[in-house]
Amino acid sequence: MYLVSARDMLRKAKAGHYAVGHFNINNLEWTKAILETAEENQSPVILGVSEGAGKYMGGFDVVVGMVNGLLKDLDVTVPVALHLDHGTYDGCYKCLRAGFSSIMFDGSSLPIDENVAKTTELIKEAHRHGVSIEAEVGAIGGEEDGVVGMGECADPDECKKIADLGVDFLAAGIGNIHGVYPANWKGLSFETLEAVKAKVGDMPLVLHGGSGIPAEMVKKAITLGVSKVNVNTECQIVFTEATRKYIEEDKDKQPKGFDPRKVLKPGYLAIKDMVKGKMELFGSVGHAYD
Ligand code: 13P
Repeated sequence: MYLVSARDMLRKAKAGHYAVGHFNINNLEWTKAILETAEENQSPVILGVSEGAGKYMGGFDVVVGMVNGLLKDLDVTVPVALHLDHGTYDGCYKCLRAGFSSIMFDGSSLPIDENVAKTTELIKEAHRHGVSIEAEVGAIGGEEDGVVGMGECADPDECKKIADLGVDFLAAGIGNIHGVYPANWKGLSFETLEAVKAKVGDMPLVLHGGSGIPAEMVKKAITLGVSKVNVNTECQIVFTEATRKYIEEDKDKQPKGFDPRKVLKPGYLAIKDMVKGKMELFGSVGHAYD
């Protein structure tokens, strides 16, 4: 299987009342864990790459080469999209050139008119390459790769304005935050989600900050039109916990225990478990060939 745009994937998810998981990747182990889990569960999947993670891995060309190589060598048959997460204007162009199959232009911090102008241009470019495009209205709270949002609730009229430009799916802030949710978090604003849905009709909606949202809230959001849920922090936490346990149990001091393939294995397995659980929660298991 080769990379596919996320457009049809998410339209089918919307029609089938489930959501596709977007899991951020950081390295080879991460990517392999997610792809293998998607294949084992016959689920479509979106690999998310922030600009920081792309840089960390050596650049967007490295990422495209690694993902395409894994799709081929692991015989992945389920639909996989490689998606730029919270892209800048320049980052979007770089990913289009490198061979990503999906991009997000995050113009949420720009004045609405500038967000509209840049989104319009990038929609044209993305679609010319057969690439899907996500836009954001209402900054998502928390911090991700130095991008700090304040956790706004999107203005439904602004959502309609951006949706009508022809984006393929839309991230609307509904009180969600990247990273760990604070104890006094008020929860998702379903009122905002319903108001946005009423304005944008069939447009698949994206829920960022998918880590740590109670399962019942995630399910309700999916019934109200969310077709893509982004998860990053929870995979990072379980990877680090599993790696810490390996070291704390002195397993690295056993014969050949220092081999990086052994050191990284518990974290890799922990990501697989986390991704499987999320696919079950989102309802995407068995939907690879809808
Ligand atoms: P979390 O890190 O909170 O899971 O959010 C991920 C995300 O929204 C990526 O865009």
